[in-house]
Amino acid sequence: MKLRSIELVLPKASEAATFLTDIWGTRLAGTLDQTFYIRGSGSFPYLVALEEGDSSYVRSVTYVCSEAELAQLHANVSARGLKATNVVSEDLGGGAGIVVELPEGELFRFLAGSEEVETIDDPDLPVKLTHVVCNSEDAEASGHLVEEVLGFKVSDRTKGMVFVRCNASHHSTAFARAGFSSLNHIAFEMQDTDAVMRGVGRLRDHAFTPAWGPGRHGPGDNVFAYFIAPFGAVVEFSTAVELVPEDYKTGSPEDWTWPENRIDQWGLSDKDFDGLRKAEARFRFRRTWAPQSIA
Ligand SMILES: [Fe+2]
Repeated sequence: MKLRSIELVLPKASEAATFLTDIWGTRLAGTLDQTFYIRGSGSFPYLVALEEGDSSYVRSVTYVCSEAELAQLHANVSARGLKATNVVSEDLGGGAGIVVELPEGELFRFLAGSEEVETIDDPDLPVKLTHVVCNSEDAEASGHLVEEVLGFKVSDRTKGMVFVRCNASHHSTAFARAGFSSLNHIAFEMQDTDAVMRGVGRLRDHAFTPAWGPGRHGPGDNVFAYFIAPFGAVVEFSTAVELVPEDYKTGSPEDWTWPENRIDQWGLSDKDFDGLRKAEARFRFRRTWAPQSIA
């Protein structure tokens, strides 16, 4: 299973699309009705869908999987009695599967049979999304639930986060111990650390300074640089997330402590705690479909 994309609804979607293409450094894959599809250099048809709407919310986070994985998800979601619906994707790339609402309202869509596209040779484009982080009221419960129902695995727990994986990448998803449910941030995977640094420079050319970074995290060992996008969400350039074996030993908060005055491996940058906290609360998940039996 792989994280593929996030689908956002927001006012002035075209301005958000222009930021992501002209400044952040992605390409417009296409538009359908009032939705702008943003792609990277990899084989996914798009990474971010931006749909015009009256208010800002998350329609779904989309994972692609096999028919066998989808059948298992059907069984687990039904058994657990989570709200869900069958879907045929009308987004670029199509595919069919289910959307599941987790207990705190997160909407995760799982598609099989969605199309892939020709890759693009451009070292400045993000390759794909590497993770989406959700704020949670109870991140611990969210971690347990996605292990039981979605087949994800918790890779590490820290004081602030529960990191979960759906393949060998250390995390494709994480739940932040925020006390409320929302989208925390969206991370784009760059080819290498140089591409992250050039991205930071490109943003600086347009008068954006990082809200945090560049730096290197503890769990996952990935390089990061976070920005608050003009359309309100927190976006991240990231690279080099750790690949972990099946039997990776799940770390606990006691395994992930920092020396005083340090919150990443490098200690180069300040963190705009207030700005990030506000931006991390802006996009909530909103279900616009009626649950149905998916059995
Ligand atoms: Fe991140």
